[in-house]
Amino acid sequence: MPERPDRNLAMELVRVTEAAALSAAHQMGLGDKEAGDQAAVDAMRAVLHTIEMDGVIVIGEGEKDQAPMLYNGELVGTGRPPAVDVAVDPVEGTRLLALGRPNAISVIAIAERWSMWQPGPSLYMNKIVVERSARQAIDITLSATENLHRIAGALGRRVNELTVFVLDKPRHQDLIAEIRRAGARISLHTDGDVVGALMAAIPGTGVDVLMGIGGTPEGVIAAAAVKALGGGMQGMRAPQSDAERMRLEAALGDEMTEVLTLDTLIQSDDAFFAATGITSGPLLEGIHYDRRGGVTTHSIVIRARSGSMRYIKGIHQLKRDFPFGRVDTEEAVKMATE
Ligand code: FBP
Repeated sequence: MPERPDRNLAMELVRVTEAAALSAAHQMGLGDKEAGDQAAVDAMRAVLHTIEMDGVIVIGEGEKDQAPMLYNGELVGTGRPPAVDVAVDPVEGTRLLALGRPNAISVIAIAERWSMWQPGPSLYMNKIVVERSARQAIDITLSATENLHRIAGALGRRVNELTVFVLDKPRHQDLIAEIRRAGARISLHTDGDVVGALMAAIPGTGVDVLMGIGGTPEGVIAAAAVKALGGGMQGMRAPQSDAERMRLEAALGDEMTEVLTLDTLIQSDDAFFAATGITSGPLLEGIHYDRRGGVTTHSIVIRARSGSMRYIKGIHQLKRDFPFGRVDTEEAVKMATE
């Protein structure tokens, strides 16, 4: 790589997720998934163009729901080095936002160009995530029970002292039953497994393991954070429809059962991750408005090369000429691209 991203780009990227969260938060609880996503996408795109980087979107979340999206292959940033792959999820947890539930976040990850895994036709993957001390213990080809025993051993705890974050989906009925039989506690969430992965990878959050099937784009985004945190993660494609399975079989044959390690998902050690809370959850507080026009954001910023993790509280003023607070995204895009 002639150009290596050596400044902490995540410190700048946090402005991208802040803008997306500020715009999307106005849609909280209004029941319109698309509107929240659209507001976030527009704000995110506008601020992305101000970041000094030659970025290509490789994970533009939204494909699977045909949502408004920053599309794969879209060029973002000023076009000047460093050359980077970009993964975005302007609203991770669109339903959570539309229903005013906890844990909707705005998120971005970047890594050196060509170093992010591209999911192709894979929409869903099985994931397991743990913190650093248990990273050697996980093996996604083993049962949940075996993994829980290995993780407990690595952390010096009993299985019944572990809490597992699982998406509350019909496909997880057997997984949930198995975790309960093994004796571990479960934290069930309707959506938002990027937050689950972050909580599992950060010690002391109350979640020790993330297990189960979620979106593949979310898996790659989570991998950037887990890698930066030094945690452990493995994945495996887990098609959820005949059409998805057939597309994968045609493209990959036997390779579709390959174990996706952290180094497969994010090849570079130079990765950056930023997320801002939209609705409040146990990891990040959401957007708070005060009566004098101020808005508070809470973000997390992680850099792989140094392993640094920062929680950033931002206090923003809602002014007519500050477009993201007012969701005047057309104006924002205009300002950013002029
Ligand atoms: P969206 O932001 O696209 O709504 O994704 C939310 C989410 O819950 C992810 O966290 C998760 O990986 C994925 O959806 C699971 O997909 P599905 O809801 O189709 O099972």
